Amino acid sequence: MQTFSLPKTSSKPIPALGIGGMPFSRPGRDLDESISIIHFGLNHGMTLLNTADVYAPSAEEMGHNEKLMGEALRQWDGDQSKVIVVTKNGITRSKDQWNRNGSKEYLLRAAEKSNKELGMVPDLLLHHRIDQSRSFTEQAQAMLAVLNAGLTKKIGFSNIKQSEYEIAQQETHGQVSAVENERSPRYRSDVEVLESCTKDQIAYLAWSPLGGENDAKNLGTLYPEFKEVARDLEVTAQQVALAWLRTHSNVLVPIPGFTKIKTAESTIASADLTLSNDQIALLNSSKPGNGSVYPS
Ligand SMILES: NC(=O)c1ccc[n+]([C@@H]2O[C@H](COP(=O)([O-])OP(=O)(O)OC[C@H]3O[C@@H](n4cnc5c(N)ncnc54)[C@H](OP(=O)(O)O)[C@@H]3O)[C@@H](O)[C@H]2O)c1
Repeated sequence: MQTFSLPKTSSKPIPALGIGGMPFSRPGRDLDESISIIHFGLNHGMTLLNTADVYAPSAEEMGHNEKLMGEALRQWDGDQSKVIVVTKNGITRSKDQWNRNGSKEYLLRAAEKSNKELGMVPDLLLHHRIDQSRSFTEQAQAMLAVLNAGLTKKIGFSNIKQSEYEIAQQETHGQVSAVENERSPRYRSDVEVLESCTKDQIAYLAWSPLGGENDAKNLGTLYPEFKEVARDLEVTAQQVALAWLRTHSNVLVPIPGFTKIKTAESTIASADLTLSNDQIALLNSSKPGNGSVYPS
């Protein structure tokens, strides 16, 4: 798979596509099977692992996905030094209650736990979602404290707007090294942050790039333009969507989730797809879906 260079994000090569880890922590999933699917992705050049402390089958198992990703990487017989590990902190869980905590004390503690679960210092640690009970300035400063404590190589933010991007860059003295925001055929209103990341040449990780589990299955029906281009190229609408996203910016990396070798294969093959200008224009003209998969 092709890679490119974004030194502000990582000294490691950035792959065209990353592995979205969330579905591997659904209740009842077989850990060994998940590890073999992660290895399949890594073997084919998907050398960016996206995880979060909150990806877990239950509140008691916070850190489940980080542990799985760390274990998968240690068991992999490829060049582990080239793999970019991205995790996120700031969402809390207890029983069925999901909440946020963006305080410095909490984010430092959560980052220490993430290091422990992963068994390594992550390449990128992102603030997951804004804690509305405190100022964003305070949360940006807290992330700088996490970086200065040596708990991550670089920091970034997820689910932020342009105004927050600007505060984050200012409060961290320009040390925001990646953003992870939603972008897919369904959701593409995040234009300004993508432009800022492109201007600053830092990675923009596009989450739920197929619109999440439900949209992913029906992508060609929901967005007929994707089906039309897929028919012309003799590929699938999902492959067209992944290739199309990558035309939006030279810093954009889709991080699809997959739980089967078959979908992993199809995803990997999408990295070689080239779309014509007419095809891109047709896809851009399609109507987006109905809001975010996981609204704030
Ligand atoms: N930062 C955040 O707040 C945030 C929020 C949500 C998600 N994320 C990240 O984004 C990642 C991806 O999001 P997601 O898993 O919700 O949604 P997604 O990637 O949009 O969709 C996942 C679905 O797409 C299917 N799929 C993947 N590749 C395919 C292909 N080539 N052809 C056909 N189907 C394909 C998968 O099928 P199978 O399972 O059957 O293989 C799965 O059902 C997550 O894993 C997580 O790492 C981050």
